[in-house]
Amino acid sequence: MPELASREHLRLLDSLVCSALEAAGRPSGQGIDLVAVTRGPGLLGALLVGIAYAKSFSLALKAPVIGVNHLHAHLLACDFTAPIEYPALGVLVSGGHTHLYDMPRPCEFRLLGRTLDDAAGEAFDKIAKLLNLPYPGGKYIDILARHGTADPRLFSKPYLHNDNCDFSFSGLKTAVALYVQKKSFAAIDYTDFNVDTIAQEIKDLCATVNDTIVETLLEKTRRALRLCPGVKTLCLAGGVAANSHLRRKFSAFAEDQGLKFLAPAQNYCGDNAAMIAYAGVTWAQKGLMSPMDFEAVPRGRNVPDDFIVNPLFKE
Ligand code: KG4
Ligand code: ZN
Repeated sequence: MPELASREHLRLLDSLVCSALEAAGRPSGQGIDLVAVTRGPGLLGALLVGIAYAKSFSLALKAPVIGVNHLHAHLLACDFTAPIEYPALGVLVSGGHTHLYDMPRPCEFRLLGRTLDDAAGEAFDKIAKLLNLPYPGGKYIDILARHGTADPRLFSKPYLHNDNCDFSFSGLKTAVALYVQKKSFAAIDYTDFNVDTIAQEIKDLCATVNDTIVETLLEKTRRALRLCPGVKTLCLAGGVAANSHLRRKFSAFAEDQGLKFLAPAQNYCGDNAAMIAYAGVTWAQKGLMSPMDFEAVPRGRNVPDDFIVNPLFKE
């Protein structure tokens, strides 16, 4: 509900920033020399609130502001685990995006493939909703899948009969919806989540869904890798990268290919401010900042590369 999300941002942002400043021992923002903010892609209303706040904060502190591409920030958070060695291949799987990137050197991202409809996280969440699991459902499918057995013949892996690196997960969602309808699973209310009370066939279904999504991501990643000879690191990031099965399979795949595998720790996979700050610093260290009139970018549009040179930058 985008309208509610924006209002909640407005209601909570100032007290959240103030408590973060308190915790950092800088209650009035002293010593802060850069303000980084998510510029997009995302929900426009929420982005506008954050950007207006960050611009005001930057004027008050007399510190430059930098608008960060949220998808790039997710991938750069792999650096929190160990340094990304370039060239790298980036797999970004979140609630709104499923993108494959060639990352030839720091701060450069070339899109190789993307979802044509639902993102991987969206597929997890919509399927979880069909099963009456709590929101956002990816985490719950992940947990239940650990207690189930996947049947790889139940659903076909979506959108593989082509030679591209794009994704389409909406067909899988429909196939699961038909299956759930046939089995009358939807009548059971699992919102009070307890693994022990959930039927084995739901756990098996979760394992199958999990496996189908993971295998699809893996197959397209394999194709992307063929387009990028010389890659040294496989970076897996975004909210869905917290998925235990996905991490295991990608880690094994990277090892098999002789690549370094990096994913942020699970608590840095989902949206977080640390990754935005880190991406902001990465660009600022190249002497860049954003002009004061930079705009929010909604989901589905490209974030322009319109940084300007920071006139006060010193190496
Ligand atoms: O990156 P993120 O926090 O927000 C967006 O930028 O969209 O990703 C949120 C997504 C949700 O769809 C959520 O269900 C999914 O990440 N997610 C998971 C897991 N934890 C979060 N999906 C699968 N397995 C998980 N363990
Ligand atoms: Zn995100």
